[in-house]
Amino acid sequence: RKAQIGVTGLAVMGANLARNLARNGYTVALHNRSSEKTDALLEAHGSEGDFIRTETLQELVDSLESPRRILVMVKAGGPVDAVIDQLVPLLDKDDIIIDGGNSHFPDTIRREKDLAEKGLHFVGVGVSGGEEGALNGPSIMPGGSAKSYESVGPMLEKIAAKAEDGSPCCAWISTDGAGHFVKMVHNGIEYADMQVIGEAYDLMRSVANIEPAEQAEIFKQWNTTELSSYLIEITAEVLAQVDSKTGKPFIDVIVDQAGQKGTGRWTVQSALDLGAPITGIAESVFARALSSSNSAAREQAQKGFTDGLIATTGVATADPEFVEDVRRALFASKLVSYAQGMDMLSIAGKEYGWDLKLDTIASLWREGCIIRAELLAEIMEAYKDEAPANMLLAPAFNKLMEELVPSWRRVISKAVALGIPVPVFSSSLAYYDALRRDRLPAALIQGQRDYFGAHTYKRVDAEGDYHVMWSDDLREVNAEDAHV
Ligand code: 6PG
Repeated sequence: RKAQIGVTGLAVMGANLARNLARNGYTVALHNRSSEKTDALLEAHGSEGDFIRTETLQELVDSLESPRRILVMVKAGGPVDAVIDQLVPLLDKDDIIIDGGNSHFPDTIRREKDLAEKGLHFVGVGVSGGEEGALNGPSIMPGGSAKSYESVGPMLEKIAAKAEDGSPCCAWISTDGAGHFVKMVHNGIEYADMQVIGEAYDLMRSVANIEPAEQAEIFKQWNTTELSSYLIEITAEVLAQVDSKTGKPFIDVIVDQAGQKGTGRWTVQSALDLGAPITGIAESVFARALSSSNSAAREQAQKGFTDGLIATTGVATADPEFVEDVRRALFASKLVSYAQGMDMLSIAGKEYGWDLKLDTIASLWREGCIIRAELLAEIMEAYKDEAPANMLLAPAFNKLMEELVPSWRRVISKAVALGIPVPVFSSSLAYYDALRRDRLPAALIQGQRDYFGAHTYKRVDAEGDYHVMWSDDLREVNAEDAHV
C-alpha cells in the first residue's frame, strides 16, 4: 500500500497535522530526522488511523503514491531550505512539496520559483490555530500553483475547521507566497487584537480597580456580545486563573515583557515596503518591544518620570457605564485592526500580482484560527459584492463606528489624563479621524518639502506639479517649465 501524503517534521504541529490527516481517512507516511519522535507518535496515537513509518527521506518518498505530496513541518528559515535540498533529488516531475510552517513569504516566492524551474510544485501553506487547531481543524491558507491545489486542496479542505455554514476554512489564496502572506497579516491582526484586549484590561484595572477575577466575568459576558471571539474567550480563562504557589491572580506573577517570534514584525516591515498604513498593528508590535527591549530603562523611568500623574489611583469605581465604554472602545479599535489588515491585503494583492479575494480570506478566518470571531462573518459579507474602499466604509461598519465613537473618545481621554498608555486604542482612533478629516496637515508637509528640496506639490484647483521659487522672488512656477 502507498500513502497519500507524507509528513516530515513531527514536532507538535507536524504530529498533530499528521494525526488530523490520518483521522480523516488518509494513509499518512511519517518521517522525522530522529525516529524517536516517529515512534513516540506511533505508540501514543498509531491506532487513530493508517500510518506508514519511515526512517529516511528516501523511504518517505518511496512510500508515497504519485504525484507525491510531502508536508514539511520544520522550523521556518534555514531548516525548510535544508529539507527541500535533500528532497529535490529524490522527487519526480509534478511532485508537490508543501510547507506548513510560518515561513516568511519572500522565502516562499523564491522557493516556488526554484522548484517550478525543476518541474516540481511548491505550496506555501499558512496554518493557524495552534496545536489544538492542527489536530482538530485549523484555518488553512494555501498559496501556490492552481494545478497543485487540485491535488492538495481536497485533503487540506477535509482537515480544516468548518465554519457555521459547513464550508471549510481553507481555500486557494493565490500563487507562490500569497498563503504565507495572508497568514502573516493574520498574525499582525492577532498582535493588535491581543494588545487591545490588554489595554482594556489595564484600563479596567487601573482606572476602576476591577480585579482579574471580576474581569474574567466581564470578559465572559463580553464574549456573548458582538465581541465574541476566541481571544476574548481565552482572556477570561487567563484572568480567572489563580497562581497555585502564591494564591495571587496568575496574571500578577507573569513578568510583563511580551515575546514575539517574528510574524508581527514581518507584517510591519512588509507594510512599510508597501506603504500600507497599518498603524494599530504596528503599535501592537512596538508595544511588545517596549515592554521587553530595555527593562533597565523601564525601571529607571518608573522612579524618574514623575509628572504627578498616577495611573493606579482607582479614581473611578467599577461603574457599568465605564465598563461599557471600555467594551465599545475595544470593539472600535478591533474593527480598525481588521480594517488595516484588509487594506494591507488589498494593497499587497496589486503589488505582488495576487488576485486576493478578501471575502474568501475573511471566510477562512471564521473558525479554526487565533483571530476567529463572530465579526468575521460580517467582514466576509462586507467584501462580498464590491469591496469597500476601506472596511470601515462598508455600510454595516460605518454605522457601527458612529455608535462606538463617543465611548472610544471618552475612554482614550481618560487614559491620557491618567497617564495610562493605550497605544493601539489611541492610534486606531487617530487612523479613523485621519481618514475622515477633510484637510490633513499633509498639505503643510508638501509645502515644507517643496521649500527645502524643490519636491513640488499639486494644487487643489489645477492639474500639474508646481514649485515656488522660495529663495528667489517667491513666484509659483509650473514644475515642468522650471525643470524641477
Ligand atoms: C496561529 C499563531 C501562531 C503563532 C504563535 C506565536 O495562528 O496559530 O499565530 O502561528 O506563531 O502563536 O506567535 P508570537 O510568538 O509571534 O506571538
